[in-house]
Amino acid sequence: MAKTHRIALLGGDGTGPEVALEGKKVLDAAAAKYGFKLEWEDFDWGGDRYLATGEVLPDSAADTLRQFDAIFLGAIGHPNVKPGILEKGILLRLRFELQQYINLRPVKLYPGVWTPLKDKGPEHIDFVVVRENNEGLYTGSGGFLKYGTPEEVAVQTSIQSRAGCDRCLRFAFELTRNRNRAKTLTLVGKTNVLTYEYDLWERAFHAMGEAEYPDIKRDYNHVDACCMWFVKNPEWYDVIVVNNMFGDIITDLGAMIQGGMGIAAGGNLNPDEGGVSMYEPIGGSAPKYTGKNVINPMAAIGAGAMLLEHSLGEKKAADAVERAIMKTTAEKMKSQSAGQMGMGTTEVGDCVAQFVADGV
Ligand code: IPM
Ligand code: MG
Repeated sequence: MAKTHRIALLGGDGTGPEVALEGKKVLDAAAAKYGFKLEWEDFDWGGDRYLATGEVLPDSAADTLRQFDAIFLGAIGHPNVKPGILEKGILLRLRFELQQYINLRPVKLYPGVWTPLKDKGPEHIDFVVVRENNEGLYTGSGGFLKYGTPEEVAVQTSIQSRAGCDRCLRFAFELTRNRNRAKTLTLVGKTNVLTYEYDLWERAFHAMGEAEYPDIKRDYNHVDACCMWFVKNPEWYDVIVVNNMFGDIITDLGAMIQGGMGIAAGGNLNPDEGGVSMYEPIGGSAPKYTGKNVINPMAAIGAGAMLLEHSLGEKKAADAVERAIMKTTAEKMKSQSAGQMGMGTTEVGDCVAQFVADGV
């Protein structure tokens, strides 16, 4: 009997549901081709539901999602909801409650995709960022003193635990070993200023590397210099490991050099036994394009390929989806920008799904 995987589908806000549907289309094509079944269940969590009911997320949400093999997310962010409410109340809450402590963000320039970097091509831009996803400035630790007065003080504290470093570093070292490329793991930080948090990261990094990963070369970049090298010499990178806040920032830069938000995919992983992971295009909900069939679904489709590989163990199907993505970017799409693709949202999905079915 064919194996069945259960996936929770969270379309979310704006163009989220549209791109998620194209991802679903491609994953269904991959399932048909590679002999497994996908069972999807829809959840309407997002801005519209919040505006209608006043509830951001039911308290049972994390428990409900734990019953699934994976979560596939469109996008969170609604123009009529104050920034922070949905992001914290849905996206960050799920990342934390489901202990998705890795945010995995491949930065790969596909053939035919335009990069703003002059003289750089797919052979230069192909690395992976492992962003710590549960700690740092994102814990929400802090507060106000004398709120709203002229003497007001705001404090926001970065909290980083050794255990949090270690589990993230272990994933990054393993990934570097399995990728089997330059076998180089670069810690990105700010040891010259964040002399507590990054002292901890650095000690944990070298201790683990020395004791357990002697085959992996350890490198270090300050985060500001790293931004410079992303633009000047992206080919220097193999795998990067970085804290939550810096990881947020450098992966937007990474998304741009790989062709933009239309193509950048990510996974919020809980790699532990029984952990449930959540995959998403990293670009946001782009509400002004909602319902126009112009948004690029390729990032969602790429997130789907990551889901197949990391949560379902369907590596062959994942590789097939990636090949189909590359054939589509190389041969069919004019651009990765919304409205300029030379095809509509649903046509991009159809095209990738067809290439998967054809076994390209
Ligand atoms: C991301 C986003 C989120 C983050 C926001 C929406 C909370 O920018 O996934 O990179 O900061 O992590
Ligand atoms: Mg971000």
